[in-house]
Amino acid sequence: MFITGDLPIVAEKQLKKAGFTVKINRNQKQLTKAELISGAKNADAVISLLSNKIDMEVIDCLSKCRVIANYAVGYNNIDLEYARKKNIIVTNTPDVLTDATADIAMGLILAVTRRFYESEKLVRDKKFVGWQPKLLLGSSLQNKTLGIIGAGRIGYATALRAKAFGMKIIYFSRSRNEDFDEKLNAKKVSLPKLMNAADVISLHLPLNERTKNIVNSKMLDLMKSSSVLINTARGEVLNEIHLIKLLKKKKIFGAGFDVYQNEPEINHELLKLENVYLLPHIGSATIEARNQMAEIAAQNVINVLNGKKPITPV
Ligand code: GLV
Ligand code: GLV
Repeated sequence: MFITGDLPIVAEKQLKKAGFTVKINRNQKQLTKAELISGAKNADAVISLLSNKIDMEVIDCLSKCRVIANYAVGYNNIDLEYARKKNIIVTNTPDVLTDATADIAMGLILAVTRRFYESEKLVRDKKFVGWQPKLLLGSSLQNKTLGIIGAGRIGYATALRAKAFGMKIIYFSRSRNEDFDEKLNAKKVSLPKLMNAADVISLHLPLNERTKNIVNSKMLDLMKSSSVLINTARGEVLNEIHLIKLLKKKKIFGAGFDVYQNEPEINHELLKLENVYLLPHIGSATIEARNQMAEIAAQNVINVLNGKKPITPV
């Protein structure tokens, strides 16, 4: 079995206890395609990271592999159809990272609307000269509207938090979500309507052919000048270049990112903007969530290799 990254120790322990030989890439650097193939080609199972692109070429080299357990909820890094064709089961790690990711989304919402970065910087730059009536005014969340794009588990958990802050919720998704409608008193609207009506927009879509660039330039142009956009989903669901243009011209109030279009590369224009928060894809980065993700990935592998059903197939 090949684990492509340095996971919490529980995964290795579980797998060894179940009698498997485990090979782990402990290097913090991302694997190249050649390194990925060389590590995985003779393995019965692979536990992969979302930064490992597992395309046709890689899958064709996996001669013995029966399961790819992705250490993430998103699995856009894997050619799912091709894996299926080759009788390889693909699994992910849903649920256990929902709260952690929603916390990061809520944190970004607060950071942007209350200007944490500029405020913190002012103190460190020794420019805090005392309380002032107009120092670093942000905008309140109470009675403002949060637009959730993608009404799945993480979208719901984010909306639940925002509701506790006094926000009204609208959402866009393919189908109605009863929890949104009934528990949050939220309304399903069209995407253009949401872009235009929301004070805060938060993206919670999986990345696939249908969602790629769904928040395109036309959609972004509908945003209010006071509004904020938060992306903790995947960079490619958004036209990042166009969003940067709007931020530069101050056509919107600000933005918060945990994910990027060309991860791990960050558009250098983004680095220069003050009304923008940039996090290094840490949505699920709590000790608790990462441990549980490791347990789930390991259990999926153990089940499949023992001829049982995986616990969280995709
Ligand atoms: C993180 O981005 C994940 O998909 O788990
Ligand atoms: C603010 O610090 C206040 O006391 O109103």
